[in-house]
Amino acid sequence: PIRRTTVPQIASRKGGVPIVSLTSYHAHTAAIVDKYADFILVGDSLGMVMHGMDSTIGVPLDLMIMHGKAVVKGTNKALIVVDMPFGTYEESPAIAFRNAAQIMKETGCGAVKLEGGARMAETITFLVERGIPVMAHIGLTPQSSHVMGGFKTQGREEESWAAHEADAKAVSEAGAFSVVLEGMVEPLAAKITKQIDIPTIGIGASSECDGQILVLEDMLGLNEWTPKFVKVYGDLGPAIERAVQQYADEVKDRSFPSEDEVYR
Ligand code: KIV
Ligand code: NA
Repeated sequence: PIRRTTVPQIASRKGGVPIVSLTSYHAHTAAIVDKYADFILVGDSLGMVMHGMDSTIGVPLDLMIMHGKAVVKGTNKALIVVDMPFGTYEESPAIAFRNAAQIMKETGCGAVKLEGGARMAETITFLVERGIPVMAHIGLTPQSSHVMGGFKTQGREEESWAAHEADAKAVSEAGAFSVVLEGMVEPLAAKITKQIDIPTIGIGASSECDGQILVLEDMLGLNEWTPKFVKVYGDLGPAIERAVQQYADEVKDRSFPSEDEVYR
Protein backbone atom coordinates (compact mmCIF):
# COMPACT_ATOMS: atom_id res chain seq x y z
CA PRO A 1 0.00 0.00 0.00
CA ILE A 2 1.05 3.58 -0.71
CA ARG A 3 2.15 5.25 2.49
CA ARG A 4 0.28 8.35 3.46
CA THR A 5 1.83 11.75 3.93
CA THR A 6 2.93 11.95 7.56
CA VAL A 7 2.61 14.69 10.14
CA PRO A 8 6.42 15.28 10.21
CA GLN A 9 6.37 15.57 6.41
CA ILE A 10 3.75 18.34 6.65
CA ALA A 11 5.68 20.05 9.46
CA SER A 12 8.88 19.95 7.37
CA ARG A 13 7.24 21.96 4.59
CA LYS A 14 7.70 25.22 6.54
CA GLY A 15 8.91 27.84 4.06
CA GLY A 16 9.02 25.28 1.23
CA VAL A 17 6.70 24.27 -1.59
CA PRO A 18 3.23 25.41 -0.48
CA ILE A 19 1.05 22.76 1.17
CA VAL A 20 -2.08 21.92 -0.83
CA SER A 21 -5.24 21.16 1.10
CA LEU A 22 -9.00 20.98 0.65
CA THR A 23 -11.84 19.79 2.79
CA SER A 24 -13.73 16.65 1.86
CA TYR A 25 -16.55 14.81 3.57
CA HIS A 26 -17.13 11.72 1.45
CA ALA A 27 -15.24 8.82 -0.05
CA HIS A 28 -15.95 9.81 -3.64
CA THR A 29 -14.77 13.42 -3.61
CA ALA A 30 -11.93 12.53 -1.26
CA ALA A 31 -10.56 10.04 -3.81
CA ILE A 32 -10.28 12.87 -6.35
CA VAL A 33 -8.77 15.35 -3.90
CA ASP A 34 -6.33 12.65 -2.72
CA LYS A 35 -4.50 12.84 -6.06
CA TYR A 36 -3.46 16.45 -5.44
CA ALA A 37 -3.70 17.35 -1.75
CA ASP A 38 -1.01 16.90 0.90
CA PHE A 39 -3.67 16.72 3.57
CA ILE A 40 -7.47 16.52 3.50
CA LEU A 41 -9.51 18.14 6.24
CA VAL A 42 -12.78 16.60 7.31
CA GLY A 43 -13.97 19.97 8.59
CA ASP A 44 -16.89 20.64 10.86
CA SER A 45 -18.05 22.95 8.07
CA LEU A 46 -19.80 19.75 6.95
CA GLY A 47 -22.60 20.74 9.34
CA MET A 48 -23.42 23.70 7.12
CA VAL A 49 -22.24 22.36 3.77
CA MET A 50 -23.75 18.86 3.98
CA HIS A 51 -26.40 18.98 6.67
CA GLY A 52 -28.08 22.37 6.31
CA MET A 53 -27.07 23.67 9.74
CA ASP A 54 -26.75 27.44 10.36
CA SER A 55 -23.35 27.13 12.02
CA THR A 56 -20.83 24.52 13.14
CA ILE A 57 -21.95 24.73 16.78
CA GLY A 58 -24.43 21.85 16.51
CA VAL A 59 -22.14 19.32 14.85
CA PRO A 60 -21.96 16.12 16.92
CA LEU A 61 -18.89 13.93 17.39
CA ASP A 62 -20.49 10.89 15.73
CA LEU A 63 -21.13 12.90 12.54
CA MET A 64 -17.45 13.86 12.34
CA ILE A 65 -16.54 10.21 12.85
CA MET A 66 -18.95 9.00 10.17
CA HIS A 67 -17.59 11.41 7.55
CA GLY A 68 -14.02 10.88 8.75
CA LYS A 69 -14.35 7.13 8.16
CA ALA A 70 -15.66 7.70 4.64
CA VAL A 71 -12.76 9.99 3.75
CA VAL A 72 -10.14 7.64 5.17
CA LYS A 73 -11.66 4.75 3.19
CA GLY A 74 -11.72 6.74 -0.03
CA THR A 75 -8.06 7.77 0.11
CA ASN A 76 -4.59 6.28 0.48
CA LYS A 77 -2.13 9.11 0.01
CA ALA A 78 -3.05 12.32 1.84
CA LEU A 79 -2.85 12.84 5.59
CA ILE A 80 -6.42 12.95 6.90
CA VAL A 81 -7.16 15.56 9.57
CA VAL A 82 -10.53 15.52 11.35
CA ASP A 83 -12.01 18.56 13.11
CA MET A 84 -12.95 18.22 16.77
CA PRO A 85 -16.48 19.62 17.01
CA PHE A 86 -17.65 22.27 19.46
CA GLY A 87 -18.02 21.00 23.00
CA THR A 88 -15.72 17.98 22.69
CA TYR A 89 -12.37 19.48 23.73
CA GLU A 90 -12.68 22.88 25.45
CA GLU A 91 -13.55 21.66 28.94
CA SER A 92 -10.31 19.93 29.86
CA PRO A 93 -7.26 18.26 28.32
CA ALA A 94 -8.49 14.87 29.58
CA ILE A 95 -11.88 15.21 27.89
CA ALA A 96 -10.17 16.44 24.73
CA PHE A 97 -7.91 13.39 24.78
CA ARG A 98 -10.80 10.99 25.22
CA ASN A 99 -12.72 12.46 22.26
CA ALA A 100 -9.67 12.88 20.03
CA ALA A 101 -8.67 9.28 20.72
CA GLN A 102 -12.16 8.13 19.76
CA ILE A 103 -11.93 10.08 16.51
CA MET A 104 -8.54 8.57 15.68
CA LYS A 105 -9.50 5.01 16.64
CA GLU A 106 -12.81 4.96 14.81
CA THR A 107 -11.82 6.86 11.64
CA GLY A 108 -8.18 5.91 11.18
CA CYS A 109 -7.28 9.58 10.61
CA GLY A 110 -3.74 10.81 11.25
CA ALA A 111 -4.42 14.02 13.17
CA VAL A 112 -7.14 16.23 14.65
CA LYS A 113 -7.74 19.95 14.40
CA LEU A 114 -9.16 22.19 17.11
CA GLU A 115 -9.94 25.89 17.35
CA GLY A 116 -8.18 28.26 19.72
CA GLY A 117 -4.78 29.73 20.42
CA ALA A 118 -3.18 30.41 23.78
CA ARG A 119 -6.22 29.11 25.64
CA MET A 120 -5.82 25.67 24.01
CA ALA A 121 -2.04 25.43 24.44
CA GLU A 122 -2.17 23.15 27.49
CA THR A 123 -4.61 20.81 25.73
CA ILE A 124 -2.48 20.70 22.57
CA THR A 125 0.57 19.63 24.59
CA PHE A 126 -1.49 17.05 26.50
CA LEU A 127 -2.70 15.43 23.26
CA VAL A 128 0.61 15.54 21.40
CA GLU A 129 2.53 14.03 24.34
CA ARG A 130 0.02 11.15 24.29
CA GLY A 131 0.22 10.38 20.58
CA ILE A 132 -2.37 12.63 18.95
CA PRO A 133 -1.00 15.13 16.40
CA VAL A 134 -2.83 18.45 16.55
CA MET A 135 -3.40 21.10 13.93
CA ALA A 136 -4.46 24.37 15.53
CA HIS A 137 -6.86 26.96 14.06
CA ILE A 138 -6.72 30.66 14.95
CA GLY A 139 -7.98 34.02 13.69
CA LEU A 140 -11.63 33.71 12.73
CA THR A 141 -12.74 30.63 14.64
CA PRO A 142 -16.33 29.79 13.64
CA GLN A 143 -17.08 27.79 16.81
CA SER A 144 -16.63 31.06 18.77
CA SER A 145 -18.87 33.12 16.45
CA HIS A 146 -21.36 33.87 19.22
CA VAL A 147 -18.61 35.42 21.34
CA MET A 148 -17.06 37.26 18.39
CA GLY A 149 -20.46 38.58 17.25
CA GLY A 150 -20.45 36.87 13.87
CA PHE A 151 -17.93 35.90 11.22
CA LYS A 152 -15.62 38.88 11.23
CA THR A 153 -12.27 39.30 9.54
CA GLN A 154 -9.69 39.51 12.29
CA GLY A 155 -6.86 42.01 12.66
CA ARG A 156 -8.51 45.04 11.08
CA GLU A 157 -7.27 47.13 14.03
CA GLU A 158 -3.54 46.87 14.47
CA GLU A 159 -3.99 46.86 18.28
CA SER A 160 -5.51 43.38 17.93
CA TRP A 161 -2.50 41.89 16.16
CA ALA A 162 -0.50 41.15 19.30
CA ALA A 163 -3.17 38.75 20.59
CA HIS A 164 -3.25 36.81 17.29
CA GLU A 165 0.56 36.71 17.18
CA ALA A 166 0.58 35.40 20.76
CA ASP A 167 -1.97 32.71 19.80
CA ALA A 168 0.23 31.55 16.92
CA LYS A 169 3.31 31.45 19.11
CA ALA A 170 1.44 29.59 21.87
CA VAL A 171 0.13 26.79 19.62
CA SER A 172 3.51 26.42 17.95
CA GLU A 173 5.33 26.15 21.28
CA ALA A 174 2.63 23.79 22.61
CA GLY A 175 3.48 21.28 19.90
CA ALA A 176 0.89 21.78 17.15
CA PHE A 177 2.39 20.57 13.84
CA SER A 178 0.64 23.24 11.80
CA VAL A 179 -1.90 26.02 12.24
CA VAL A 180 -4.81 27.23 10.14
CA LEU A 181 -5.01 31.03 9.86
CA GLU A 182 -8.60 31.83 8.95
CA GLY A 183 -10.15 35.17 8.08
CA MET A 184 -7.42 37.62 9.02
CA VAL A 185 -6.02 40.63 7.21
CA GLU A 186 -3.24 39.70 4.81
CA PRO A 187 -0.28 41.49 6.44
CA LEU A 188 -1.06 39.90 9.83
CA ALA A 189 -1.16 36.39 8.29
CA ALA A 190 2.11 37.08 6.48
CA LYS A 191 3.69 38.39 9.68
CA ILE A 192 2.60 35.38 11.73
CA THR A 193 3.90 33.03 9.03
CA LYS A 194 7.36 34.60 9.39
CA GLN A 195 7.25 34.52 13.19
CA ILE A 196 6.56 30.84 13.89
CA ASP A 197 8.37 27.61 13.05
CA ILE A 198 5.33 25.53 12.03
CA PRO A 199 3.55 25.76 8.66
CA THR A 200 0.61 28.14 8.46
CA ILE A 201 -2.35 27.10 6.32
CA GLY A 202 -4.30 30.07 5.04
CA ILE A 203 -8.00 30.49 4.30
CA GLY A 204 -8.93 34.11 3.78
CA ALA A 205 -5.38 34.91 4.89
CA SER A 206 -2.26 35.39 2.73
CA SER A 207 -0.43 33.88 -0.25
CA GLU A 208 2.63 33.96 2.01
CA CYS A 209 1.17 31.25 4.22
CA ASP A 210 2.97 27.91 3.98
CA GLY A 211 -0.15 26.32 2.48
CA GLN A 212 -3.75 27.02 1.52
CA ILE A 213 -7.08 25.36 2.22
CA LEU A 214 -10.58 25.89 0.83
CA VAL A 215 -13.90 24.16 1.39
CA LEU A 216 -14.27 21.89 -1.64
CA GLU A 217 -17.95 22.63 -2.25
CA ASP A 218 -17.20 26.38 -2.18
CA MET A 219 -14.45 26.18 -4.80
CA LEU A 220 -16.56 23.87 -6.96
CA GLY A 221 -19.37 26.41 -7.21
CA LEU A 222 -21.94 24.38 -5.31
CA ASN A 223 -22.98 27.30 -3.13
CA GLU A 224 -24.96 30.24 -4.43
CA TRP A 225 -22.99 32.69 -2.32
CA THR A 226 -19.34 32.51 -1.33
CA PRO A 227 -17.20 34.96 0.65
CA LYS A 228 -14.54 37.10 -1.05
CA PHE A 229 -11.69 34.77 -0.08
CA VAL A 230 -13.13 31.84 -2.06
CA LYS A 231 -12.01 31.46 -5.65
CA VAL A 232 -14.62 29.45 -7.53
CA TYR A 233 -12.65 27.04 -9.73
CA GLY A 234 -15.58 24.86 -10.81
CA ASP A 235 -19.13 25.36 -12.00
CA LEU A 236 -20.78 22.29 -10.52
CA GLY A 237 -23.96 23.89 -9.18
CA PRO A 238 -25.25 24.91 -12.64
CA ALA A 239 -23.91 21.64 -14.17
CA ILE A 240 -25.87 19.55 -11.66
CA GLU A 241 -28.98 21.64 -12.25
CA ARG A 242 -28.75 21.16 -16.02
CA ALA A 243 -28.48 17.38 -15.58
CA VAL A 244 -31.40 17.21 -13.14
CA GLN A 245 -33.54 19.41 -15.39
CA GLN A 246 -32.85 17.26 -18.46
CA TYR A 247 -33.64 14.08 -16.52
CA ALA A 248 -36.93 15.57 -15.31
CA ASP A 249 -37.88 16.59 -18.87
CA GLU A 250 -37.02 13.14 -20.27
CA VAL A 251 -38.96 11.29 -17.59
CA LYS A 252 -42.01 13.41 -18.35
CA ASP A 253 -41.82 13.01 -22.13
CA ARG A 254 -40.94 9.28 -21.78
CA SER A 255 -37.68 9.61 -23.72
CA PHE A 256 -35.97 8.16 -20.61
CA PRO A 257 -35.52 5.24 -20.37
CA SER A 258 -34.90 4.72 -24.09
CA GLU A 259 -34.09 1.47 -25.94
CA ASP A 260 -30.49 1.80 -24.65
CA GLU A 261 -31.55 1.64 -21.02
CA VAL A 262 -34.11 -1.23 -21.01
CA TYR A 263 -33.67 -5.01 -21.07
CA ARG A 264 -35.37 -6.80 -23.96
O1 KIV B 1 -14.37 23.18 8.92
C1 KIV B 1 -13.64 23.61 8.01
O2 KIV B 1 -13.92 23.44 6.80
C2 KIV B 1 -12.41 24.32 8.39
C3 KIV B 1 -11.61 24.96 7.30
C4 KIV B 1 -12.33 26.12 6.73
C5 KIV B 1 -10.25 25.32 7.75
O3 KIV B 1 -12.11 24.37 9.55
NA1 NA C 1 -13.68 23.73 11.02
